[in-house]
Amino acid sequence: MRLRSLTLQQFRSYTSLACSFAEGDLHVLQGPNAAGKTNLLEALSILSSGRSFLGAEEDDLMLWGHDHYRLQASLLSDAGEEKNIEIVSQRLPRRARAGFLNDVRMPIGRLNGVLPSVVFLPQDLELFTGSPARRRDLLNDLLVQVSPEFTLSLAAYQKVLKQRNTLLRRIREGTGRIQDLEVWEEALAREGAVITLAHLELLKVLQCTLEEELSSLGETWRAVQIAYDRHGQANTREGIASELAHDLLHFRERDLIIGSTTIGPHRHDWRIDADGRSLATFASRGQQRTAVLALLFLQVSYMEVRRGEKPVILLDDVFSELDQVHQERLMASFLGHQVLLTTTHVPPLLSDAVLWSVGEGKVERQEVGRRV
Ligand SMILES: Nc1ncnc2c1ncn2[C@@H]1O[C@H](COP(=O)(O)OP(=O)(O)O)[C@@H](O)[C@H]1O
Ligand SMILES: [Mg+2]
Repeated sequence: MRLRSLTLQQFRSYTSLACSFAEGDLHVLQGPNAAGKTNLLEALSILSSGRSFLGAEEDDLMLWGHDHYRLQASLLSDAGEEKNIEIVSQRLPRRARAGFLNDVRMPIGRLNGVLPSVVFLPQDLELFTGSPARRRDLLNDLLVQVSPEFTLSLAAYQKVLKQRNTLLRRIREGTGRIQDLEVWEEALAREGAVITLAHLELLKVLQCTLEEELSSLGETWRAVQIAYDRHGQANTREGIASELAHDLLHFRERDLIIGSTTIGPHRHDWRIDADGRSLATFASRGQQRTAVLALLFLQVSYMEVRRGEKPVILLDDVFSELDQVHQERLMASFLGHQVLLTTTHVPPLLSDAVLWSVGEGKVERQEVGRRV
């Protein structure tokens, strides 16, 4: 897939922006800190997966002082088909979001994956030692782009989770009834099983070629495995649902004290083990980065196989953090893909890219003499 052009209105720091990325595959967006580089990639992540890769709330995405935003992209599929996607979000007169594919209105979830993308964020450099939330988001952001069923279950799960948490707090304060928990727990178990099973299956696929990918990057660890950390053993949908239903009941008392749900896929985590030890505990910083890169390549292949389209690669401020070998490997792996990369300074390896200057609400093609 290729992003041909992008229009933003009242999104983050942009009042109005229109850019054409039709020429060339490698686009380098260069600008100082707070210039609006990440905002631009964030807009693309919303068009891809319906969600900001920073997990931002809708209100924070609207240009300050404004009540709506609009994102629009024209795309060219690998088979040469033109597509147009658009998302409009408003908070007044009432909260609403609408999606359009080729100007036909549809639920935002149905747009997921029309513009397939894979992102690499600065926090991913510490993926294995950083917060589990990012590791879960990585799985979810891939899955919502390939599975409409997963998208529906994730949205339902998150909604019901909030409702159960609110009720837990009300029960604690004496204004809620304990028997009302049942209906939420039933829904959590049902949707949670879809999510857990999808996580397990995705990790199994990624694991198939992980060792090979690592060794092609120079890390010859043995017995490389991806482990999924969860409470429970079942690996069928019915089995996971009944385990989760049982656990929700079992941990009710604890959840009531804490005032939130402590069990379920929103608390699951995953890690990479080699030779029976967790990578986070034994691998050097450089080795962890190699593993992150291997995982990035696996995500790209997964997306390409599942969508039948090469995803657009979004690299936010990570390129200059990598050593030269990894930089070269990255460029070689993404030949034939469209890549949008943000950076404060343009490394020598990227001087042949299409260069853009980002700042003051604008994104402009750089003239050769102005390259930094
Ligand atoms: N909703 C918003 N309205 C206006 N400006 C915003 C909004 N959200 C973030 N910003 C501004 O966007 C800038 C950060 O942009 P960002 O894309 O993160 O910069 P960088 O180029 O460093 O990646 C900050 O100056 C911030 O104040
Ligand atoms: Mg940034």
